[in-house]
Amino acid sequence: MPTTPELADRYLMQTGRRLPVTFVRGRGCLLFDDSGREYLDLVAGIAVNLIGHAHPDVVAAVTAQAGALIHTSNLYFTQPQVELAQRLVGLSFPSRVFFCNSGSEANEAAIKIARKWGTRNRDSAFEIITTTGSFHGRTLAAVTAGGQHKYSDPFKPLPEGFVHVAYNDLNAIKEATSARTVAVMLEPVMGEIGVIPAAPGYLAGVRSWCDEHNLLLILDEVQTGLGRTGRWFAHQHHGITPDVMTLAKGLGGGLPIGACLAAPRADVFEPGDHGSTFGGNPLACSAALAVLSVIERDGLVGHAAEMGDVLHEALLDLGAKEVRGLGLMQAFEFDEPRAKAFQQSCLDAGLIVNAVDEHSVRLVPPLIIGNAEIDGAHTTMRGAL
Ligand SMILES: Cc1ncc(COP(=O)(O)O)c(C=O)c1O
Repeated sequence: MPTTPELADRYLMQTGRRLPVTFVRGRGCLLFDDSGREYLDLVAGIAVNLIGHAHPDVVAAVTAQAGALIHTSNLYFTQPQVELAQRLVGLSFPSRVFFCNSGSEANEAAIKIARKWGTRNRDSAFEIITTTGSFHGRTLAAVTAGGQHKYSDPFKPLPEGFVHVAYNDLNAIKEATSARTVAVMLEPVMGEIGVIPAAPGYLAGVRSWCDEHNLLLILDEVQTGLGRTGRWFAHQHHGITPDVMTLAKGLGGGLPIGACLAAPRADVFEPGDHGSTFGGNPLACSAALAVLSVIERDGLVGHAAEMGDVLHEALLDLGAKEVRGLGLMQAFEFDEPRAKAFQQSCLDAGLIVNAVDEHSVRLVPPLIIGNAEIDGAHTTMRGAL
């Protein structure tokens, strides 16, 4: 009998490298493989399982909704979608919401909004300033917006209209701004490249620049949103609001859903401009409503801030070259190229961490993680070192 990895090799496109483990179930911060072995999960499906695996409230909501109505398309109204939009707007800033299925799609919506807004408001300006090292997803526009050549170069020609500047450098944005510029698009903490938070004053400075020069500020909170950084949204650490914000990852507690929120100034879509067959379907929205309720009821935003500090301290104690992060979005760096080997040693010892490259390890655990789990992870990581 071929193993699951062998079958995957034969039948799945090889778009990425997987670790040699096949998971069959999860509960809270734990995952279990096909031999019944238990793992502590500090990656949470890449910052997705905000309230852990198989949370009873999500399971109940999804089960009830699946028995009632899974999908209708957006030709009609469904109540969970409207309720979810209302909840997200209430938690963030005055805006309206477009629902889709992923972070890339949410960013596509944001890019289209910027372009339409530019046509209307800035003499057809269309260029979006983004940052080197950023990650906005894998669609053609999203890889072009993202500032990492390895993800975009094989797919040339790329769509025009993106300019990349260094992160945390307000002057670089100022210098790159021209009559063609329509928006600045940023991650409040660059996640995929290895957790690089915005420096104090940077986002506030970009906000002021956008206001002074009539540009849109788009914040990609796909990874940082919904409590991950110790605030509902990472921009709330900086006392600003964006014109457009994108969400996905943790929103559905594991079900695929993305969202693009636009403030009144940027709310330019009209019927026919954009759409998604599955976007915001009742199943995904009912899961998301359950996730938001649990985060609120259990005070998980404050808990994430607190546990983020505990995790940060535990990582500092490992003696890594650099530890950086915000809330439960943390990373540390090795001098030597040993992050991948470290990831494998942790896996062998029953701990899931994410090596983003040969030098950096990213930890984005479920927000429900507690002191005991962080202690256990710390011991395992020490052993792996
Ligand atoms: C900041 C950010 N934006 C966008 C995306 C893309 O999201 P998705 O994989 O759901 O398309 C990611 C995924 O890692 C992300 O971290």
